[in-house]
Amino acid sequence: MAVYVARLSLENLRLAKAELLSIIEGEGLSCKILKEIGEFLIMELSERDADLIAKRAALIKEIGRLVYIGDLNTDDIINVVNREGLVVGRVESVRSVAKDLTKKVYDELKAKKKFNPSSNIALVFVNGHLLIYVFVKPGRERRFSARSPQKRPVYLPGTMTPWLARVFVNLAAVSSRKHEVLLDPFCGVGGFALEAGIQGIRIVCGDIDRRMVEASIVNVRGYNLDHYCDTLVMDAAQQPFRSQSFDGISTDPPYGRMTIPQRYDLRNLIMHFLDEAVELVKRGRRIVFAVPVSIDGSVSTKLRELEVKGEVKVEDRVLQYVHSSLTRVVYVVKRL
Ligand SMILES: C[S@@+](CC[C@H](N)C(=O)[O-])C[C@H]1O[C@@H](n2cnc3c(N)ncnc32)[C@H](O)[C@@H]1O
Repeated sequence: MAVYVARLSLENLRLAKAELLSIIEGEGLSCKILKEIGEFLIMELSERDADLIAKRAALIKEIGRLVYIGDLNTDDIINVVNREGLVVGRVESVRSVAKDLTKKVYDELKAKKKFNPSSNIALVFVNGHLLIYVFVKPGRERRFSARSPQKRPVYLPGTMTPWLARVFVNLAAVSSRKHEVLLDPFCGVGGFALEAGIQGIRIVCGDIDRRMVEASIVNVRGYNLDHYCDTLVMDAAQQPFRSQSFDGISTDPPYGRMTIPQRYDLRNLIMHFLDEAVELVKRGRRIVFAVPVSIDGSVSTKLRELEVKGEVKVEDRVLQYVHSSLTRVVYVVKRL
């Protein structure tokens, strides 16, 4: 075990933290969170588990082994760098904390030849703390660009960006190591299937539109992930599976804009989907989905009713801005 720093993305800090904790829970990692400093989480982890988190999480900007943590008012920073024998590659002041000190430290390190931009050691001032860590940048662009919608064998509008699909998949807390199975009943062209498969998670996908199902199958094959994924034409409001068949459900229902809900209006479709989801997911496991804020009143009433009956617990409800005419609410719901 060692102490690691995970730097979460500020794009949506709440989703970023929820994603990280879901990976830890889903994979059953032995991890102790020691401290939270702004968007930095200090955790005790094994190297193997830190590596798994770096590979899986979409909303971690950096992860790295902690070399030093101190109080920036009292520590003699240059002494620490000398004592640890470090060559620093970045001196950063987060949100302009201790800007003057940062500049002074940078100048001093440079003068003492203790600074080299190619080093992966970061010295970061944040909220009254100094963190020094050896970082790896998971690099979102590089990791996800090969699966961007336009590069897939079949492109149809209405698909989520791969990194966000990854976050949804990860929030379901399904293990890639225990042969668990995720369900996406509104699969579209298979964006979630790609992000599940690439992480070694098995997934069953469904869509009411045969064209979408065919597109999803072609896309999944295009990335050689078909051994992780089964896809069928089905109605998310009337699903053909036995109760408690799945270790998690993660899905992106239609918003009534680009992907028009079929057979029902959007509100009714989501109500029926929720009843089915509660039946199909195993107890103690999660249902992750998003709805446009316009129908959130009905959805939260429905979830409260299910909570009163002791069937579910809403674990997280996060607003996510998509564009000027769409903000959605991301729900993480636990089946009790
Ligand atoms: C927002 S899209 C999903 C996009 C998907 N996450 C992707 O990355 O391509 C919603 C999908 O729900 C499907 N759909 C609409 N009504 C449905 C229903 N009753 N049952 C199952 N799928 C339905 C639409 O055909 C559409 O493909």
